[in-house]
Amino acid sequence: MNGRTPVELGPAQETLLIPLYGRAMETRKRKPLVRDPRAVEMVASIDYDFARFDESGSLRGSVLRGLVFDHWVREFLTEQPNGTVVEIGAGLNTRFERLDNGTCHWVDLDLPDSMALRRRFFAETDRRSMVAGSVVDPDWVAAVRQHPGPYFFVAEAVLIYLSEPDARTAVGHVRTTFPGSRFAFDTWGQWIIDNRHRHGALKKMSAKLVWACDDPRDIESWHPGIRLLDTSAVGGHPELRRHLPLLYRVLMPLVHALPQSRSYRLNLYQV
Ligand SMILES: C[S@@+](CC[C@H](N)C(=O)[O-])C[C@H]1O[C@@H](n2cnc3c(N)ncnc32)[C@H](O)[C@@H]1O
Repeated sequence: MNGRTPVELGPAQETLLIPLYGRAMETRKRKPLVRDPRAVEMVASIDYDFARFDESGSLRGSVLRGLVFDHWVREFLTEQPNGTVVEIGAGLNTRFERLDNGTCHWVDLDLPDSMALRRRFFAETDRRSMVAGSVVDPDWVAAVRQHPGPYFFVAEAVLIYLSEPDARTAVGHVRTTFPGSRFAFDTWGQWIIDNRHRHGALKKMSAKLVWACDDPRDIESWHPGIRLLDTSAVGGHPELRRHLPLLYRVLMPLVHALPQSRSYRLNLYQV
């Protein structure tokens, strides 16, 4: 026994350790894009070989991706400071710690084993709930309804682990029970699915990328009323690009020409 928190997670659930480690490693840099001391603490206290992800482009990629989702959530909270953010597949994300304005409400949803790990590090308050369950199963809806609208849903690197029918079901739950909400999630194209054995940190894990989506506009046809409001490549969002270091701004167009970058989109919908 080394006194550290053991990890007992299913294959898709284990991937939550990649963005956690990404934020921890970023925080240690001289000029980090994100500062996340909680992630540093969690990495230090979890019994896991995080070093297997070192040198993987997934770490910086997950940080850049998170900045875009943070931007959309921040925009929502500026317009709706008393609204509720629902973080689907929350993992060990610290978005609440980064964006809490003191008045918003927050619901973290994740599969039971991921949520059990999350509960070791985070506590519920009267504004913040944690719910164990699958986004595909509508049981979580009642817990969200206990918080005031309007609602913003975010599923960062989550729906890609579902089958397409399950992803449709998850989007459908949000659309039918919280119509008019905004929902941010990423889509991964067929190229990435076909080349997943070469993909950054994921190639070291047994999780399967399942749902391929080459055009984020396709989701508009899933349910009447869904509209794509914004879509961005990782690191390519115009609101964020100007805050990135010069080297990034110079290199980003080249990175975006790569098939894996063209195949991966961060999307904001009105549902
Ligand atoms: C790559 S991690 C992302 C974690 C977090 N969103 C972040 O960015 O740090 C994928 C997450 O999706 C969760 N997940 C996978 N399938 C799910 C489902 N059916 N319902 C809810 N969460 C799910 C996993 O447990 C895991 O926490």
